[in-house]
Amino acid sequence: MSARNNGVNPGVHMKAARKLLAATACVGVFLATTALAADAAKSVSANVGTPAPIQLAAADEKQAVIHAAEAEAKAEKKDLILKGDAKCTGCHDEADDAAPGMLELHPSVLSIGKTKHGTQADGRTPTCTDCHGDSDDHMNYKGSGKPPKPSILFTKNTPTPAETRNERCLSCHQGGKHINWQSSTHASRDVACVSCHQVHSRRDKARDRFAQTEICYTCHKEQRAQMIRPTHHPVPEGEMGCTSCHDVHNDNPKGLIKSSTNDTCYTCHMEKRGPFVFEHQPVAEDCGICHKPHGTTTPSLLVQRAPLLCQQCHGGNSHAQNMSSVSRSGNPDGQAFINGRACMNCHSNIHGSNATTGNANFRK
Ligand code: HEC
Ligand code: HEC
Ligand code: HEC
Ligand code: HEC
Ligand code: HEC
Ligand code: HEC
Ligand code: HEC
Ligand code: HEC
Ligand code: HEC
Ligand code: HEC
Repeated sequence: MSARNNGVNPGVHMKAARKLLAATACVGVFLATTALAADAAKSVSANVGTPAPIQLAAADEKQAVIHAAEAEAKAEKKDLILKGDAKCTGCHDEADDAAPGMLELHPSVLSIGKTKHGTQADGRTPTCTDCHGDSDDHMNYKGSGKPPKPSILFTKNTPTPAETRNERCLSCHQGGKHINWQSSTHASRDVACVSCHQVHSRRDKARDRFAQTEICYTCHKEQRAQMIRPTHHPVPEGEMGCTSCHDVHNDNPKGLIKSSTNDTCYTCHMEKRGPFVFEHQPVAEDCGICHKPHGTTTPSLLVQRAPLLCQQCHGGNSHAQNMSSVSRSGNPDGQAFINGRACMNCHSNIHGSNATTGNANFRK
């Protein structure tokens, strides 16, 4: 989260008022600046309703509970939106959500109040127009037909270019992990923030490891097929997501993975990092030489089975090609090269070895 100049934001006053409201409602929020608090206190007094009377006398108890519940429901509804949003929510209210199929087709408009974008206690929280633009023509339409469109539309087949839509989001989200967005693979292909994110929905699928993949697969069909191969990373099982390895807001030319291939893999497979007394050169170079991380038909996510895998590089006069001669193994039987773990029957520490005597050829 970066540069949001609160001082310039016209909505901030009302938001400060909201802040105070939230605080008095025992949400446990503290105001950051006393100056704002004093300001807010002036404008807020009119908004604070008298709390519903809660009487504990036995006869009135039931009634009191009902009162309290009603008051709570009212307060909750009121808290759903920011004050700056009133100019829009005069027309866009719960009725929008009640239209048939609305909740499936479109996320509920007001439920944005239940997301991080609805945190009243946060002065950086966007109002409707921060995202949809000023929309003056739309807002002030007095005719009887359909109003002109709002300035910025996010829905499917929208005439608003991806870049313009993204700019809205980036006005608050350019910092941190999104610093390289403009040069990212996704930005260069006109993918919008909202191709992945749903902001009106209480549940943004992109941020759920399990549901996230469905979004990715809508555009990356090949990866869906790879992920259901006999060996795969436990992505379909929900144990990890695409973003366990990928940083989709970034611009790594190497398939948008988080860092180098090996450093990405080491975050979970630490034991493969070593350091080893005897390194196996391709392992230290790139795990991807032997493994395909999405999924393969070969055990252990290997690009190919041993011995073929090994024979790509090891040949010549060595027993790697001429599989009947192993001078010191006492096992000249070619079967050991093919059955079971094949070459790894003997070279079991294929990722590197810490043998203390001589080069043990990854055998211990
Ligand atoms: C005077 C009532 C009114 C006000 C005020 C109003 N809208 Fe609308 N809005 C409508 C109506 C009616 C539609 C449906 C138009 C249609 O079906 O094409 C609509 C549609 C929309 C849509 C969907 C457009 C589309 O084609 O998908 C968005 C987004 C929207 N409004 C945002 C806003 C925002 C943001 C504000 C405040 C700046 C706002 N509206 C204020 C009446 C209003
Ligand atoms: C953080 C940015 C953001 C804010 C704030 C925001 N919207 Fe939206 N709005 C979107 C996006 C993005 C969509 C597309 C659906 C989605 O991703 O959830 C959308 C969809 C809509 C739609 C449905 C359009 C359609 O054709 O179905 C309406 C109506 C709407 N917004 C009105 C509002 C109103 C009213 C507010 C203020 C209460 C508001 N929006 C606040 C970004 C925002
Ligand atoms: C006016 C500023 C502002 C704008 C514009 C804005 N956001 Fe945000 N966004 C925020 C704030 C504040 C948070 C809460 C940050 C936090 O809790 O650290 C947030 C949080 C988020 C989160 C994380 C939600 C979560 O559950 O943790 C996502 C995703 C997000 N925004 C996407 C978007 C997208 C997509 C757009 C454009 C359609 C957008 N934002 C526009 C201010 C903004
Ligand atoms: C290709 C899909 C995709 C696109 C496009 C995308 N995001 Fe995200 N975003 C994600 C996913 C997935 C996560 C969850 C990341 C995680 O779990 O590591 C996320 C997380 C976030 C978060 C919360 C955590 C964080 O990284 O700060 C914010 C805020 C956010 N995105 C904003 C944006 C904005 C703004 C844009 C457009 C400039 C955008 N995203 C474009 C998929 C996407
Ligand atoms: C709206 C379509 C769309 C969505 C949704 C989407 N992507 Fe992409 N993605 C693209 C396009 C287009 C490219 C550019 C390269 C290409 O054509 O494969 C790309 C590129 C990538 C690349 C880099 C590929 C390379 O060859 O360098 C990765 C990794 C990636 N996306 C991961 C994801 C993940 C993970 C998600 C879900 C969180 C996701 N994408 C969601 C459209 C999308
Ligand atoms: C275990 C780590 C890991 C996971 C999980 C993962 N990827 Fe990848 N992905 C990689 C690596 C490594 C590459 C290859 C990078 C390179 O060397 O170019 C890659 C490459 C890609 C590419 C570029 C084309 C290709 O196949 O080389 C796309 C697109 C992609 N991944 C999408 C996804 C999607 C979508 C998901 C979730 C369903 C996902 N990835 C999950 C590690 C992972
Ligand atoms: C976010 C954590 C994570 C990252 C990052 C990761 N892995 Fe994994 N990996 C796992 C998990 C979890 C398993 C499954 C372990 C199990 O089932 O016991 C696994 C299993 C494997 C397996 C064995 C598969 C089998 O069926 O025997 C290989 C090989 C592997 N990973 C290679 C890689 C490579 C190469 C990378 C980097 C491109 C990588 N992993 C990145 C978590 C990760
Ligand atoms: C020279 C090929 C090669 C390279 C390069 C390679 N591996 Fe492997 N890897 C294998 C083989 C072969 C197996 C199967 C071992 C067996 O069957 O005994 C394996 C198995 C695995 C396994 C599952 C079994 C275990 O040992 O935990 C993981 C996890 C793994 N590799 C991770 C990695 C990581 C991470 C890298 C990069 C640092 C990497 N591999 C690089 C050949 C390679
Ligand atoms: C991408 C090429 C490549 C692949 C694939 C590969 N290796 Fe290697 N391997 C090397 C290189 C390079 C060396 C170090 C150079 C050397 O000493 O010959 C090496 C060294 C070795 C050594 C130690 C040799 C020595 O003289 O110290 C053994 C044993 C070995 N590899 C076994 C295997 C096995 C078993 C496989 C299959 C699982 C395999 N390698 C796959 C490239 C590869
Ligand atoms: C039955 C056990 C056994 C099997 C199976 C085996 N090796 Fe070896 N390998 C050895 C022994 C023992 C040495 C040490 C030989 C020496 O020092 O003269 C060795 C040495 C090597 C070397 C380094 C010396 C050389 O000859 O180049 C390479 C490379 C190698 N093996 C690759 C492989 C490959 C590839 C496979 C699978 C096709 C394989 N080995 C299968 C036991 C085995």
